[in-house]
Amino acid sequence: MTNPQVPPPDGSEYRPGLEGVVASRSSISYVDGENGVLEYRGIDIRELTAHSTFEETTFLLLYNHLPDHRELAQFTTLMARQRVLPHAVREAIHNFPVSMHPMVALQAGIAMLAGDDYFADEIGTQRNNIKRCSSVVAKVPSLVAAFERHRNGEEPMPAQSKYSHAENFLFMMTGVQPHPEAARVFDKLLIMHADHSTNASTFTCRVIGSTLGNIYSSISGAVGALSGPLHGGANERVLRMLYSIGSPDNVEAFVDEQIATGNKIMGIGHRIYKTKDPRAELLQEVIPRLLEIQGGEEKQTLYQTALRLEEVVNQRLGQKKLYPNVDFYSGIVLEILGVPSDLFTTVFALSRVAGWCAHWVEQVSANRIFRPKQEYIGDHHRPYVPMERR
Ligand SMILES: CC(C)(COP(=O)(O)OP(=O)(O)OC[C@H]1O[C@@H](n2cnc3c(N)ncnc32)[C@H](O)[C@@H]1OP(=O)(O)O)[C@@H](O)C(=O)NCCC(=O)NCCS
Repeated sequence: MTNPQVPPPDGSEYRPGLEGVVASRSSISYVDGENGVLEYRGIDIRELTAHSTFEETTFLLLYNHLPDHRELAQFTTLMARQRVLPHAVREAIHNFPVSMHPMVALQAGIAMLAGDDYFADEIGTQRNNIKRCSSVVAKVPSLVAAFERHRNGEEPMPAQSKYSHAENFLFMMTGVQPHPEAARVFDKLLIMHADHSTNASTFTCRVIGSTLGNIYSSISGAVGALSGPLHGGANERVLRMLYSIGSPDNVEAFVDEQIATGNKIMGIGHRIYKTKDPRAELLQEVIPRLLEIQGGEEKQTLYQTALRLEEVVNQRLGQKKLYPNVDFYSGIVLEILGVPSDLFTTVFALSRVAGWCAHWVEQVSANRIFRPKQEYIGDHHRPYVPMERR
């Protein structure tokens, strides 16, 4: 057997997980982990969450410039019109098992959208590609909300074009018009999750795009990649952890026990950010007002427990540069907004689909199929042994 430690004869180097390998060039988002900066198309997400909307941010990601009045009005109208799901997809969701995981339902629903697009495989002009992307971004909330209502035995709510993208999702999920400030918080959450350079799901989307796979295959593949616990889903585990801690008074003992047993504290630490994740800061800012609008005593305790946890982690683990990541506060925000915890990763997808689409457009417009090398570490020249002699 070849020794896996010996580098291949051509001098190339195996990097598990492609760590440190530059696998693509992109002008979509930039992450500075040392200084806690995240930019979309060169604009800081602090600016975008303060002044932009998810629709405008999606336009920025797809077209690489901020829209003027007319462009934004057109794009917002286009997105709103495209929220309606094809009949066949609505029927299919109606027949999905109610026990299905929402991420599986979303992945299947997105793949099925191709059935309603006769020209799905025609990867044409940038203009048409972007238009198709806007339709996918518009339909993801409708898919998530339709499945959520189906599994609760409720009829889907019709999309409301008078509502923003964020408001409409909350309405379609609950059937109740959301508080405008709560909807704006959700809008900000969507903005700050919309892209994050090359992570596993974005890379998956680009790999499928590089085969000239259509947008529906590429996005449903990305949803599959996001569904794994090492990528999406940490915010759900943060929420469970905070509920299990129970109160700020129990935090110190919890942290000490985690450190003593070598367990990781959920929502803490990041491969790239060596300071507090800018998205965690932005989410933390909106929680106090959100609690005033629709939080109860239980949610207040949850938030106070999180604040205390951040403080104690800082004291005990600050020297390791471990700080809250985006998932630390996003689960609390979604919990206060009334989103069921097993929908958290679909909400992540509902936002990240904008970034995936931008990456798909970028990939297909300057394409080279991904075909990395493999280092073979198996045997050679083994004899085929007849069955009776094995
Ligand atoms: C995100 C994460 C995978 C990054 O991992 P990484 O960059 O590979 O960092 P490492 O796992 O090598 O950790 C470096 C050190 O910090 C410690 N550490 C990292 N995350 C920690 C956490 N959440 N709680 C306690 N200690 C942690 C490690 O034990 C290690 O300590 P050591 O040097 O004494 O062995 C990791 O921080 C983690 O698992 N966090 C919790 C899960 C989470 O929140 N995921 C969402 C990410 S957005």
